Amino acid sequence: METVMRDKLFVPALPTLWPGMLLHRGPPSGFMPFSASNVRYFYFARNAIWTTVKMLGLDSGEVLMPAYHHGVEVEAVVDAGATPRFYRVGGRWDVDLEDVEKKIGPKTRALYLIHYAGFPGPVEEMRRIADKHGLPLIEDCALSLLSADGPVPLGTTGDIGIFCLYKTLPMPHGGALTVNGPRQYSLPEPPLPPSSSTFSHTVSSLLQNLELRGGSIGRGVRGLVRGLGKGAVKAADIERVATGTQHFDRRHVDLGMSPFAHRIAQAQDLEGVVERRRRNYFFLLGRLRDVSSPLFNQLPAGVCPLFYPLVVDNKEEVLERLRARGIEAIDFWKHFHPACDASAFPEVARSRRTIVEVPCHQDLTPEVMAEVATVVRGALTREPRNQKHAG
Ligand SMILES: Cc1ncc(COP(=O)(O)O)c(C=O)c1O
Repeated sequence: METVMRDKLFVPALPTLWPGMLLHRGPPSGFMPFSASNVRYFYFARNAIWTTVKMLGLDSGEVLMPAYHHGVEVEAVVDAGATPRFYRVGGRWDVDLEDVEKKIGPKTRALYLIHYAGFPGPVEEMRRIADKHGLPLIEDCALSLLSADGPVPLGTTGDIGIFCLYKTLPMPHGGALTVNGPRQYSLPEPPLPPSSSTFSHTVSSLLQNLELRGGSIGRGVRGLVRGLGKGAVKAADIERVATGTQHFDRRHVDLGMSPFAHRIAQAQDLEGVVERRRRNYFFLLGRLRDVSSPLFNQLPAGVCPLFYPLVVDNKEEVLERLRARGIEAIDFWKHFHPACDASAFPEVARSRRTIVEVPCHQDLTPEVMAEVATVVRGALTREPRNQKHAG
């Protein structure tokens, strides 16, 4: 039986900004992309992808990309002038390396690998294939900040590493492009984003933090301030460049990262972030494996999970139930990019129909995770809505 909760659960999809992070500044980080010698910061990861296509001169040819993709990374490649071609990914997010080799042709200009939700893809093997064919390898770590394949940090094996900072850390925005190896590209410093946008995202995240810590009082204050804030944003005609959106927008392609966002990155205890995410993931793995077969049965060394990928048959219903109970679960990658023929990739189509993101980020305490597990179990074990009762 489910436990009755004293206060409404609030489990935000992303980590929130703690007020202390506005003042604190930690030692220099050993994690990518902060430790990279050649790095450029952007507002979004998608800007880094667009810049990569232009920088490497891929716009005259094809980029070989996984059929399992978000869509915005493909949009950035297309907008920059390259043609995406897709390779097979299996039901356990396993890249079909034979298909990669098979799809390389005279027009191929680069290989593109995505590390899914912190779980490393076969980057060594992709490196070997890229070298054999004289192609650059782009390693997309947008969903895999702070993650490593054992001792090897993700984003260091490809010629290019792409990172999104605001999905893992409570930053108002932030993406990065790292150039690895001997290539000496020197990129211009992108212009700063509108400070009103940075301010607006920062306030939202602080308010979420208040709700996270303050229960019903925090929720009330957040509701009040949000109402006032929306009016103020409208009245002042503030430009808010939204993060986490589905589509690429050329108008924002040049935007860089603000010094304020850098400061927040420097205030993070990154080792602690990895440890807490692993702890929370591991807890869900143990508590949910009997009600939903895990996509990954273990958490390999070095992995910093972005979320817990919950496999369900009735995705819409489960999402609705979790959200109704205060868990901001997300529909993971429902759609193919229109350039990708869905019928050619049935396993990917199935993944798109069945995977729900359950938060396991650093803000969630063991007590909250216990409630999350209980709610998820309840959502999975309830009968499907349209099931008819016999008799
Ligand atoms: C694999 C992948 N690459 C790139 C991006 C783009 O990230 P951003 O929102 O920082 O542009 C996303 C966004 O979700 C993604 O999932």
